[in-house]
Amino acid sequence: MTDGTGSARISFGDVHVGFGRGGKRVEVIDGVSFDVRPGEFVSVLGPSGCGKSTLLNMAAGFLAPDAGEVRFDGDRVTRPDSRRGVVFQQYAIFPWLTVEKNIAFGLTLKRNRRSRAETEESVRRYIELMGLEGFEKSLPKQLSGGMRQRVALARAYATDPDVLLLDEPFAALDAQTREFMQELLHEASQAERRAAMLITHSVEEAIYLSHRIVVLGNRPTRVHEVVDVDVPWPRSPESRLQPEFLELRGHLEGVMRSLSGSAFRKAHP
Ligand SMILES: Nc1ncnc2c1ncn2[C@@H]1O[C@H](COP(=O)(O)OP(=O)(O)O)[C@@H](O)[C@H]1O
Ligand SMILES: [Mg+2]
Repeated sequence: MTDGTGSARISFGDVHVGFGRGGKRVEVIDGVSFDVRPGEFVSVLGPSGCGKSTLLNMAAGFLAPDAGEVRFDGDRVTRPDSRRGVVFQQYAIFPWLTVEKNIAFGLTLKRNRRSRAETEESVRRYIELMGLEGFEKSLPKQLSGGMRQRVALARAYATDPDVLLLDEPFAALDAQTREFMQELLHEASQAERRAAMLITHSVEEAIYLSHRIVVLGNRPTRVHEVVDVDVPWPRSPESRLQPEFLELRGHLEGVMRSLSGSAFRKAHP
């Protein structure tokens, strides 16, 4: 570590961001601080438009804060880096490449090139972890939405990142596929123990997957609260019915309802 951020993998320190100039300027992030520690799975939950993707884009190195700082392993984030793997809601895989070529893609880039044997081993491992056996030679158009996101996750894992940055990766999927994907991602993160920052507006998803949940308020956005998820590990479909799960779900759904309600009343006085 090069400074006082302790053992944080990702650290947001009093981050401020706005968009536009002069009278058209909108302050979006108004002093947000939180950490993602090694091996920790943190979800960021908040109302639509509060700046969740903006925060993730800063962690990825796509966007710089106007004030405050974003650090990765103690160093200021200034550009994208394969040690931080990113998965978006959609369009993250190449339609002209097969499943296995999509997963190998990051490993063919000069900065993280592997030997042929290592690349094959890594592709095989993540095909298996994401349950994609038998689809190695398929093209994305031959796959369901859920399977395409499994390819995107496998590709992110294959480059061996220290932290995964996931921006609503399951938001476009139907409810059943989404639950299945949560279970798959949970199993993968149990097997891999990488730090992860997941953006979501699903309370259920945040609880199922996380050690901690950072709840954001409305714009200009600050941290509304941070909750430890005390649901026993590892999680399984039955976890969704455990008292700790249900209690936290009730609490967070209430928070989300009141945040969306106050945003709605502000917009429609
Ligand atoms: N590049 C940009 N230029 C102008 N406004 C932006 C830009 N990116 C995001 N915003 C605005 O910032 C706010 C937060 O956006 P975003 O981070 O995408 O929210 P969320 O992911 O929580 O839904 C929104 O009001 C959005 O319109
Ligand atoms: Mg978003």
